[in-house]
Amino acid sequence: MIPFIDLNTYNQSFEEQFNAKLHSIFLSGTLILGKEVSLFESNFAKFCGTNHCVGVGNGLDALTLIFKGYIELGRLQLGDKVIVPANTYVASVLAIVNAGLHPVLLEPNEDTFNLCPIEAEKHIDSNVKAILVVHLYGQLADMKSINHLAKSNNLLVIEDAAQAHGAENSIGLRAGNLSDAAAFSFYPTKNLGALGDGGAITTNDDLLANLLKKTRNYGRSSRFENKVIGFNSRLDEIHAAFLNIKLPTLDQHNQKRRVIAKYYIDTINNPKIKLPFFDETKNHVFHLFVVRVNDREKFCEYLDKNHVGYSFHYPIPPHKQKCLQLPFLHLPITEKIHDSVVSIPISPILSVSNYEEVANILNRY
Ligand SMILES: Cc1ncc(COP(=O)(O)O)c(C=O)c1O
Repeated sequence: MIPFIDLNTYNQSFEEQFNAKLHSIFLSGTLILGKEVSLFESNFAKFCGTNHCVGVGNGLDALTLIFKGYIELGRLQLGDKVIVPANTYVASVLAIVNAGLHPVLLEPNEDTFNLCPIEAEKHIDSNVKAILVVHLYGQLADMKSINHLAKSNNLLVIEDAAQAHGAENSIGLRAGNLSDAAAFSFYPTKNLGALGDGGAITTNDDLLANLLKKTRNYGRSSRFENKVIGFNSRLDEIHAAFLNIKLPTLDQHNQKRRVIAKYYIDTINNPKIKLPFFDETKNHVFHLFVVRVNDREKFCEYLDKNHVGYSFHYPIPPHKQKCLQLPFLHLPITEKIHDSVVSIPISPILSVSNYEEVANILNRY
């Protein structure tokens, strides 16, 4: 079996270093917002090129806290509209709704799966106050056009960078440093994954960063004083320690993902399988390698028979989720994408023989 992802083996390579670190955390007695979190915040801000990083409980909280933070700072008002690509993971949309804002779900560019700036422009009205871009599957959205559009219309831009740690544009700016504020997830399967839930916000906005350092911690301004309504959403010391150990390997592992992606793109030549767009630059970190097929059920039966692991990202679009109550929305491009996507193995520990075999199996379909 070629697994879709083999997290055990991947994480085992960090086990020895982590065990040593765990022992020192034990001895330190500081388990919440201690040295490891501060160190990770400074390491990850440096990695992304931003002035600030605020560690939080998970990616959904990171997004929600950004929106709530901008409401607290008076940059957004309850009920404002936020543009978001319709084909994202439901968490992007939940964050907007949980913050009391109104999502405007738009059809994506079908080749890149990312927000289409032309489509976004068509939907800007006086109630739209922000754009949430999602660097879906690890590929940067067209930030130049989106930031230009936002600037001309006085809109905030927020990145959902949950799948794009380390993705870099043509002038070397990374995901997390391409907007007003960005949210990352360190869910264990992400390109930079913790040993459980974790997340972070990166930003160059001093006011937002100072506020979010409080709101993630009950809104505390000092030990016994709470100036804003806050949450308990802190990155744990243990996860921060694991992330500090893993971060130095991230660029190398992203490069390995790109090598596998290039091999798949050069080698898989089956007309029944549509391959993802890749411009062969560092703007894609291939969190996922997503192909499209017309006959997904049959294709997956074939993968099962040939012992290739796979997954779907995602089979049901947000507007078809009952919780969002948007059944009246008709988004044919998004719906077609969600009906046809299949994610195939692309972990950085996939062996050459394994990815060669995956390509062979797909070519024989
Ligand atoms: C695009 C996107 N946004 C947000 C999230 C939410 O992150 P978390 O699971 O850490 O809350 C995810 C997680 O899968 C994601 O893929």
